[in-house]
Amino acid sequence: MRIGFRKLLSRKCLTTLIFMKVLVIYESTRGRTKAMAEAICEGVIDKGKNCTVLPAENFAGLENVCVLAVGSSTRMKRPLPKVRNLLSEIELRNGLAVFAFGSYGWSGEAPDMIMDALKERGGIPAIETPLKVKDQPSEIDLKKCNKIGGTLSDLCVE
Ligand SMILES: Cc1cc2nc3c(=O)[nH]c(=O)nc-3n(C[C@H](O)[C@H](O)[C@H](O)COP(=O)(O)O)c2cc1C
Repeated sequence: MRIGFRKLLSRKCLTTLIFMKVLVIYESTRGRTKAMAEAICEGVIDKGKNCTVLPAENFAGLENVCVLAVGSSTRMKRPLPKVRNLLSEIELRNGLAVFAFGSYGWSGEAPDMIMDALKERGGIPAIETPLKVKDQPSEIDLKKCNKIGGTLSDLCVE
């Protein structure tokens, strides 16, 4: 069966639209930034959009990703090592919407450094100010993460 170019194109568009997703990558030592990552993803899914949450070491590319969120807690005034490695290697499509977040104990540099690195690589902040949570995220903090997930989901066209 022959498929015309237009039909093929519309099938490709359909596939792309159906599978576009928010990707949330994190590194976390005690589960605090992980809890934030999961709550962000829940907020995306609550809005009926797709979301994948992955530890940094499982990152496998940006295919069908409409928004990339990267989180790490702060250790010695910088992000954790797997996120640092990821940020030094990752190639972003110019203009990809990005977001940064993380738990911290006292100074909280990591989310700002993540955002700067993502911007240097061509990302455009979906929300300019990174989300920082001191220590263990409270219920209120997790609700804030949900809400941010909802905002990120709005950038994924259906
Ligand atoms: C060895 C070590 C170094 C740390 N350095 C910093 C730091 O420089 N600035 C800061 O704000 N928090 C620092 N913290 C605190 C962590 O960022 C904080 O405990 C955070 O909630 C851990 O989140 P996670 O479970 O997502 O890794 C440090 C913690 C440890 C154990």
